[in-house]
Amino acid sequence: MLRTAWRRKIGALLVAPMVLALAACSGASGGEATPKAPAATAASESNPAFVKAQELFTANKCISCHGVDLSGKVGAKTNLQKVGSKMSKEQIANQIKNGGGGMPVYSNKLSEEEIGLLSDWLSSKK
Ligand code: HEC
Repeated sequence: MLRTAWRRKIGALLVAPMVLALAACSGASGGEATPKAPAATAASESNPAFVKAQELFTANKCISCHGVDLSGKVGAKTNLQKVGSKMSKEQIANQIKNGGGGMPVYSNKLSEEEIGLLSDWLSSKK
């Protein structure tokens, strides 16, 4: 009688933390599995030209310095989340063409049209 009760108690003590740990684990991994909000989720990004611009942004490694969410990975100046409020479309296009300040030149990698798509999209970031 006494032994059974003791076993149950031990059982409960062992099982309870395991359940908690499992719950905590699945909670945490669920959070990690959620993809980092890509720039494409914003409503204004459904514009097909903007979708294309984001593809260019990814394919041309812009994200490696500016981040998939545009928050910037190599210093404050690489944050492009509000670039449209401080730079004109032309200024943005010039930065993409000529690079500078640690950014590569893209005039030899991207067409005029692609640079236009990218600067249109980025200048909408205000
Ligand atoms: C190797 C890293 C790197 C890559 C790749 C890169 N950039 Fe940059 N970018 C920078 C840095 C660093 C700056 C800040 C330059 C400065 O200090 O003037 C910058 C600045 C900019 C700016 C101006 C922001 C500002 O506030 O002055 C724009 C717009 C921009 N990048 C767009 C792009 C686009 C579009 C691409 C891809 C076609 C790209 N960048 C790829 C590093 C990079």
